[in-house]
Amino acid sequence: MCGIVGYVGWREASPILIKGLHRLEYRGYDSAGVALINEKGELNVFKCKGKVSDLEHFIQGKELAGSIGIAHTRWATHGEPNDANAHPHCSESGEIALIHNGIIENYRVLKEALIENGYTFRSNTDSEVLVNLIEYIRTTNRCPLLEAVRQALRQVVGAYAIAVIERGNPNRIIAARQSSPMVVGIGDGEYFLSSDAASIIEYTRDFVYVNDAEIAVIDRNAPLKVLTLDNHDARIDIRKLELSISQLEKGGYPHFMLKEIYEQPRTLVDCIRGRINPETCEVKLSGVIDHRDRFLQARRIIFVACGTSWHASLIGEHLIESICRIPVEVEYASEFRYRNPILREDDIVIAVSQSGETADTLAAVELARKAGTFVFGICNAVGSSIARATDSGAYIHVGPEIGVASTKAFTGQVTVMAMLALAIGHEKGTVSEAYYHEVAAALLRLPETLEEVLKVAPQIADLSKIFTYARNFIYLGRGYNYPTALEGALKLKEISYIHAEGYPAAEMKHGPIALIDAEMPTVAIATPDHTYEKTASNIEEIKARGGRIIAVCARDDEQVRRSADYVIEVPVITECLMPIVVSVPLQLLAYYIAVYKGRNVDQPRNLAKSVTVE
Ligand code: F6R
Repeated sequence: MCGIVGYVGWREASPILIKGLHRLEYRGYDSAGVALINEKGELNVFKCKGKVSDLEHFIQGKELAGSIGIAHTRWATHGEPNDANAHPHCSESGEIALIHNGIIENYRVLKEALIENGYTFRSNTDSEVLVNLIEYIRTTNRCPLLEAVRQALRQVVGAYAIAVIERGNPNRIIAARQSSPMVVGIGDGEYFLSSDAASIIEYTRDFVYVNDAEIAVIDRNAPLKVLTLDNHDARIDIRKLELSISQLEKGGYPHFMLKEIYEQPRTLVDCIRGRINPETCEVKLSGVIDHRDRFLQARRIIFVACGTSWHASLIGEHLIESICRIPVEVEYASEFRYRNPILREDDIVIAVSQSGETADTLAAVELARKAGTFVFGICNAVGSSIARATDSGAYIHVGPEIGVASTKAFTGQVTVMAMLALAIGHEKGTVSEAYYHEVAAALLRLPETLEEVLKVAPQIADLSKIFTYARNFIYLGRGYNYPTALEGALKLKEISYIHAEGYPAAEMKHGPIALIDAEMPTVAIATPDHTYEKTASNIEEIKARGGRIIAVCARDDEQVRRSADYVIEVPVITECLMPIVVSVPLQLLAYYIAVYKGRNVDQPRNLAKSVTVE
């Protein structure tokens, strides 16, 4: 949610900032802006409604000189997307410019106090309140900017990653964070600042992750300094990040989402590498080995996650309950964090998050840790806030996911959960050797299985043209594939804006069947499993009521083929891994329907990739 980027060094700042904004656009794309200080110390701010490309157009021919600057791409929280609400925001005197990602919860009280002191406001944002508060403190206390930022942040309740520059100081950016991501890239005589290290990876591999309640003083003439809000020096830990730039490009695909769907055979190789021995099928996760006793003694596992990661967690529940015989609960992180949940010492909380920055999931992790519960993270973004806040974990290693609709992260998460279940189940002795080997071998074959699945893409592209008219969709599945149905429906609604619901197939007759008519297509997942016959009967029931059915089924399934209007055939592997196989055609279906409807697949309306606000 909102991307922030900054630069100070020896190069022209504006091209670096604009490129960084393009890379961060997945975080928000309703308005964008840049602030630069030139050699004379003049501060120039340009901002406008729209995407980063609109900003690029807007700044053409403008005064863009300066080797220091900050820039922002916005996902609106306070105030509609328009020029005035776009960042950077300037203080009333025009001396200070600020960019902000997050929400200042007590902004109303602060704003009223500032109004009483004569301040006026040009925008509806909470961020403008903060920049004026900083200016007010700087003026009344006659203190330097750094001290004013520090004192202002001590009054703020909420989440923020901010960067601040001031007229007359072409050397220094002050940045700070609380519950919103921020990283400083250390170059040779230059510094970079960003919400996401990936956006500046072409300039440096050395990063310092700013922690909560810390302020970074980024000065071109001095080593990086980090202070706590209490004014103590904080430890600076430089970490190396290995990423290739090609992972951040579309690589010839029309959309990141399609690229990421097609990447899945390879991303699963990366996810499994070094974790399953191809000769012996032995599964090893260091995060489990290091905390073996915790896992062996666990009385209960609680997954906390949001969105797609929550759907993957529902599959994790099936896997762990059946393979490890440990009771599992799956919680929406946003509910869990406010529910005063009962947590015991022998519980394990598993936080699942692609970005590793989702505010609700991070808060759930913090709550669990405060209660003394062991927290295991399943994240994608290396070094992300959730990955750092957990006691242990396993990265899914699927590479940066840029398309807003999550695809390869889902299959990576389920793959890690399957390995986790096998590793724990084996230690506990709750899984038979035969089943352990069957699932591990199927995991090893997943990449080639997904290559096979992807061959259905042209057929799905054709099929999708037929369904662009639909206003509602229903997705049905059972057992392991009930969460897959939820995930398929989520994919469709978020990128095509068609209303879609996922249901356990048998629940259909308890209400939703009333919706069935020729206008509402049903996507039925009917792959072979122990409820196959029952799902096949559910399909018949829909057919009998004039519904149109797209069935995802095994090759040569004559029974389903007879009742479905369209079939998407998939290869069959061991039942517990079928969600990984089935999710791929559902991703493609959502993708092609959205493309044929002319939607912006990678940047759907109202959404952002990384939800760092509540
Ligand atoms: C759906 C989607 C979202 C995310 C959710 C959690 O395609 O991307 O539902 O899954 O916002 O995000 P992470 O996994 O980053 O915590």
